[in-house]
Amino acid sequence: MPEFFNDYPLNKLNTFGLPVKAKYFTKPKTEEELIDSINRIKQMGLPMLVLGGGSNILFTRDYAGVVLQPSITGIEEIENTSDYIALSVGAGEVWDNLVEYAVQRGLGGIENLSNIPGSVGASPIQNIGAYGVEAKETILQVMGFNLETMSRVVWKNEECQFGYRDSIFKRELKGKVVITNVIYRLSKHPKFVTHYGNIEHELAKMGETTLINIRKAVINIRNSKLPDPNKLGNAGSFFKNPIVHMDLLHELKKRYDRVPSYPIDDKSVKIPAGWLIEQSGWKGKRLGNAGVHENQALVLVNHGGATGVEILNIAEQIRSSVQNRFNVMLEMEVNVV
Ligand code: FAD
Ligand code: EPU
Repeated sequence: MPEFFNDYPLNKLNTFGLPVKAKYFTKPKTEEELIDSINRIKQMGLPMLVLGGGSNILFTRDYAGVVLQPSITGIEEIENTSDYIALSVGAGEVWDNLVEYAVQRGLGGIENLSNIPGSVGASPIQNIGAYGVEAKETILQVMGFNLETMSRVVWKNEECQFGYRDSIFKRELKGKVVITNVIYRLSKHPKFVTHYGNIEHELAKMGETTLINIRKAVINIRNSKLPDPNKLGNAGSFFKNPIVHMDLLHELKKRYDRVPSYPIDDKSVKIPAGWLIEQSGWKGKRLGNAGVHENQALVLVNHGGATGVEILNIAEQIRSSVQNRFNVMLEMEVNVV
C-alpha cells in the first residue's frame, strides 16, 4: 500500500503555483498499489481527485479528500511492423519525455506536441493538441480502471469520442476512471506536418526538415509566446477557441479589418479566443495578483500570491466582456476544482 500523506502541499503540483493542500495525497506506482489505494479511499468514504502534472487544473480551495497521482511509469514496445511501432506507456510518464524518446528513435506522430507540460495519462483527457496535430491521431487504446465497477477497462480510439480539446473522459467518465496506460502507434515513415503558424519559417533557419528539427522549431515558437510556469504560474490556454456560425464572422468583418479564423465546415469557423480577449481590452491587464499574459491573451497568469478564486474571478470578467462585445460565450479549457 503506498503511503497516504496528510495535509499535503500541492503548490508544486499545480502549474498556477497555488498554495493549496490536499487532506490526503498518495502516489501509487503499480496497478496493484493503485487498486489498494482506491479500496482504501472507498473505505475512508472520502472524495478522490486524480492528478497528473497539474498543468490544466485550477484549485479554488484546499481539496477535502484524497488526491491520487498515478505514477505508473515505463515505455514498452508491444508491436513492431515495417510501418510502425506501438508503445504502451505508463500514465505517470512525463509527456514530453515520451516525445523526446520518439523523436530520438525516428518515430513520427507526436513531434508537433513537443513541450506540452503534464503526464501521459492526461494526454487523452482533453486530446492534447498543438501546431496542427492532436493526440487522437496516434492513440490506439487507453487503458484504465473504472472506479464504480472496480474493473479494468480498455477504450479503443473510436470509443474515446475524441474531439477538439475533448473526449469521453472529460464528459460522462469525468471523475469515474483512472487512466493507467496509453498505447500510441508511431510511424517509421513520418509525414511531417509543417503548415501551421510559423513552423516553416522556423524550420527554414535550421536546414533539413527532420523530426528533431520540427521538435526544435515547435519548442522555439512555444518559448517565444508561452510563459514558463516555473517563472509565472499559468495553465496554458485558459479557454477553448470557440467554434461559431459563419454569419458571426461576416458580421465581425464589417467591424474589424482583420479577423483571424479557421474554417471548420460550410457553416462554422473557429475564431481564436486570444483575439477576442485582446480586442476586448484584456491583454496584459492585471486585477490584483491575477492577470492576462502580455504576449498571449488566452493565458491567465498568477503574478505571485494570487488565489484560485482571484484567477476564476478574472476569467469570469473576461468571459462576460467577450460575451457582451461579441455575443460569444467562451468555454473553459482548464479543469476547475
Ligand atoms: P492535470 O492538470 O493534472 O489534470 C488534467 C485533468 O485530467 C484533470 O481533470 C485530472 O483529474 C485528469 N487526469 C489527469 N491524469 C489522469 C489520469 N491518469 N486518469 C484520469 N484522469 C486524469 N494543452 C494542449 O492541449 N496543448 C498545448 O499546446 C498546451 N500547452 C500548454 C502550455 C503550458 C505552459 C501549460 C501550463 C499547459 C499547456 N497545456 C496544453 C495544458 C496541459 O499541458 C495539458 O492539458 C496536459 O495534458 C495536462 O496534463 P497534466 O498531467 O498536467 O494533467
Ligand atoms: N491571437 C491574438 N492575440 C493574442 C493571442 C492570439 O490576436 O494575444 C490570435 C492571433 O491571430 C494568432 C491566433 O490568435 O494568430 C492563434 O494564436 P496561437 O497560434 O498562439 O494559438 P492559440 O489559438 O492561442 C492554440 C491552442 C494552444 C496551442 C496553440 C498552437 C487552444 C485553446 N489553444 O492556441 O494550446 O499550443 O494553438 O497550436 O486551442 C493549450 O491548450 O493550453 C494550449 C496552449
